[in-house]
Amino acid sequence: MKDQPTNVSRRDFLKNSSASLAALGALGFTAALPAQAAKSTPKTRLAIVGTGARGIGMWGAPVARDYADYIEIVGLCDINSKRVEVARSLIGSNISDMDGMIRTEKPKQGAARTTGANIPTFTDFDEMVRTVKPDRVIVTTVDAIHARYVVRAMELGCDVICEKPFATDEEQCQAIIEAQKKYQRNITVTFNARYGSSTARVKELLKAGEIGDLYSVDYAEFLDTDHGASYFRRWHGLKECSGTLLVHKASHHFDELNWWIDSDPVEVSANGDLRKFGRNGPFRHINCRQCVHKDKCRYYWDITRDKHLTDLYVNCESEDGYFRDGCLYRYAINIYDTMSVLVRYANKVLVTYSLNAGVPDEGQIIVFNGSKGRIEVRNFSRQPWEVAQAAEVRLMRNFEDKSTLVPVERRSGSHGGSDTLIKDHVFIPGTPDDLAQRAGMRAGIMSAIIGIAGYHSIETGRPVKIRDLVDFG
Ligand SMILES: NC(=O)c1ccc[n+]([C@@H]2O[C@H](COP(=O)([O-])OP(=O)(O)OC[C@H]3O[C@@H](n4cnc5c(N)ncnc54)[C@H](O)[C@@H]3O)[C@@H](O)[C@H]2O)c1
Repeated sequence: MKDQPTNVSRRDFLKNSSASLAALGALGFTAALPAQAAKSTPKTRLAIVGTGARGIGMWGAPVARDYADYIEIVGLCDINSKRVEVARSLIGSNISDMDGMIRTEKPKQGAARTTGANIPTFTDFDEMVRTVKPDRVIVTTVDAIHARYVVRAMELGCDVICEKPFATDEEQCQAIIEAQKKYQRNITVTFNARYGSSTARVKELLKAGEIGDLYSVDYAEFLDTDHGASYFRRWHGLKECSGTLLVHKASHHFDELNWWIDSDPVEVSANGDLRKFGRNGPFRHINCRQCVHKDKCRYYWDITRDKHLTDLYVNCESEDGYFRDGCLYRYAINIYDTMSVLVRYANKVLVTYSLNAGVPDEGQIIVFNGSKGRIEVRNFSRQPWEVAQAAEVRLMRNFEDKSTLVPVERRSGSHGGSDTLIKDHVFIPGTPDDLAQRAGMRAGIMSAIIGIAGYHSIETGRPVKIRDLVDFG
């Protein structure tokens, strides 16, 4: 793709995103810098585009609550004019986002707190940036819209923080590469999964050479009948919005793999099918609230029992027609619920990855095979939100009878405490980064591109070479 500025008007944004939306209908770096250091650092002016559960629950509310020494939130933007107002009312409150739901969370000790009362809201991104002149923009919209805002924010002179997945097709990846070359802005992609206690522990073991040279990784991801099934209720069920779960969800896992393996993916082969949801359902309706099958549907879900979700979505439906409790048996669903992927890396490591949605328990089994031994990770999440979680990490050496259980820190909080650790890295200058957990443009693209190659491989029945999709120059 040529290095050309993208002039994205509000109409273009609306056209592209509403095409999708209309169709829907660690390490423990939690301590803040000393107050002295915080005071001497000028506050960063931060704007947020996409003020749904993640935009407000992971970023807006906790940042104003816990990082006010470093950050001033200067603008909020969403195409849904009602949702952006609800989001403003939640700024600085004790909420956080977890798996698309809003929870309450304790503020950081000693943190200064600001509210959203004076933060201006916008439905037009360019107008927001020109009016409030942010230093950094956080992009937390529907996945397929990320790249357009990443590029536009750089064109308008801002640094960018973007939620995963960075992009949902190869053209978007290339547009970001070209824009970054041209505008030289700083890009952060927020892979909170890198901050998981077992994920970081595995990185330490691999770095320390505990299993010698790495030969292969088997990564099995399981999404349950609750959170896992919820992807099929939401915009995520449409490939044009999410790039399928191989991009939306697996970009976390492909990023972990790229980071652990410390090399670039070269070739991807995949298979995928829709076996449980969408057209496979025994009946269907538009959404749960109006459904005539609610008495017999195991997936019936009453969104109105959750006040935050009712405020953010149900009460904003008049603006965009988006149902957060959409039927997971809708014919429109065009992503896969059953997937397997093979990835070959430049350093010869071979990966076998699978993702199954709608299964009894949620989590992962990951096995690393090396020249000296093996690491096994079992990480399942069937615990109440409040219970500190810990994965089991086991180290085995060739020709030894016994395996060792590697200690893993038990943490509580959103995504096992990872969401706080990553915010420290993103917002507190000087936070140590011994494991290179901070991720930028290359990591964002290399994770998304495996899933993109994966869906191309499923569609064509052929292996896909990464170099045929993106060119870093
Ligand atoms: N890292 C994680 O663990 C994690 C967890 C959840 C979500 N996420 C990511 O965060 C992002 C948001 O997810 P969510 O669950 O909050 O979804 P959501 O549907 O609640 O929010 C998306 C918001 O984007 C807005 N939007 C859509 N098109 C737009 C446009 N053209 N311009 C401006 N706003 C637009 C929608 O109106 C909505 O408010 C997604 O990219 C998702 O992948 C990451």
